[in-house]
Amino acid sequence: MARKLMTAVQYSSYGGPDGLQHVEVPVPTPNKDEVLLKIEAVSLNPVDWKVQKGALRPFLPPKFPHIPVADVVGDVIEVGSRIKNFKAGDKVVAMVNPIVLIKEPMGMLSPLLELAWYKLGEEFSIVCLSGKESLRLDMAPLELQASSDPVYNGVNFDRTAEGEQVMISLASTIVVGVVAKNGGGLAEFAVTKGSLTVARPPELSADKFVGLPVAGLTAYHAITQSAGIKLDGSGTKSNILITAASGGVGHYAVQLAKLGNAHVTATCGARNIEFVKGLGADEVIDYKTPDGAALRSPSGKKYDTVIHCAAGIPWSTFEPNLSSNGKVIDITPGLGALLTFALQKLTFSKKLLVPLILIPKDENLRYLVNLVKEGKLKTVIDSKYPMDKVKDAWAKISDGHATGKIIVEN
Ligand SMILES: NC(=O)c1ccc[n+]([C@@H]2O[C@H](COP(=O)([O-])OP(=O)(O)OC[C@H]3O[C@@H](n4cnc5c(N)ncnc54)[C@H](OP(=O)(O)O)[C@@H]3O)[C@@H](O)[C@H]2O)c1
Repeated sequence: MARKLMTAVQYSSYGGPDGLQHVEVPVPTPNKDEVLLKIEAVSLNPVDWKVQKGALRPFLPPKFPHIPVADVVGDVIEVGSRIKNFKAGDKVVAMVNPIVLIKEPMGMLSPLLELAWYKLGEEFSIVCLSGKESLRLDMAPLELQASSDPVYNGVNFDRTAEGEQVMISLASTIVVGVVAKNGGGLAEFAVTKGSLTVARPPELSADKFVGLPVAGLTAYHAITQSAGIKLDGSGTKSNILITAASGGVGHYAVQLAKLGNAHVTATCGARNIEFVKGLGADEVIDYKTPDGAALRSPSGKKYDTVIHCAAGIPWSTFEPNLSSNGKVIDITPGLGALLTFALQKLTFSKKLLVPLILIPKDENLRYLVNLVKEGKLKTVIDSKYPMDKVKDAWAKISDGHATGKIIVEN
């Protein structure tokens, strides 16, 4: 039976905000492990415009036209046959099109040479691969059928799902991305994996939760897993630097680090210094001043961990500011960062630059939702746009000057 039509925003080629088109497309159908949501609001992330610019070509977007955006909040409309924990009417927050880590970083330099691209179903191709990993890659399509295998982070892969695609990239980490045939969140309706959909308190407004999937989970991952901070404050007190603390990831990271009783130094622009202090940072430096550019702590602290949410800062700037075993968690790792990481591994360096790729997990999203419910974590809204002004929202996130999160509402 033909599905009803819905309004959506998509793009049909690489480009910028002008490439976004308002269209009518069929309402997507949830697979057995998916949930159909009526979207109330979405939040934008830099990755959304970077994918449209072609920064991740040829992997993402998987094909044109593409409906972008991962962070959604909405109401459950319909559930797949395997979904037992949601019913129509439930209010949820979810991530569409998750990128899921299935293996920890591999050894030394070899990963930098390896890259593979899988499309399950009709098409199947390998762009390039090398060494013994090819054995693993040949096995991958079969392994992916074992959807209960814990290495897949609980995301169910359904090889028979028409149009569903999987990317495997071997560049210091192996990443599997599931790109649902039904597209992303910038639409009236979207389907999400049940395993990355979390109930939210119906009495609280959607905008309190909409930034959590990408930015909140990245901050959580960096603070808890990478920096080793215990959010109940029971661990040893550590000195943390958070760069771009005024942005989507940074503003969550400051709050989480303070819950974990860390001493937080933060960088941001002059206009946001009071804002970042208000989030709890102990000392805040303007990144455009000489001390800010040098990342020098005003109180002379050496950092145990840097949660690096800005870009374009060389290792030579970080190195003198780190404690003897200090590490920099780089959430926007480019080739230079990967080379630094590989070189430091080869030389057994104590100070490390560690690339981070988000591993989205529903249990972590649930944890963040609870923090918001308890009033311990807040989402700061930079701006809200209605769907018919989505190009303005897209231009704003592309500028890189958001304070908190940019939201588009249906
Ligand atoms: N690895 C992953 O899985 C992952 C996940 C999420 C995000 N990311 C990446 O992480 C980065 C940050 O994401 P986001 O959502 O936080 O971005 P965002 O919200 O767009 O960040 C904007 C903020 O960064 C500030 N800023 C820019 N350059 C700065 C600098 N050199 N020093 C201090 N502050 C600076 C801006 O301040 P002014 O306006 O004052 O300049 C603005 O307030 C992006 O590159 C994103 O793609 C990676």
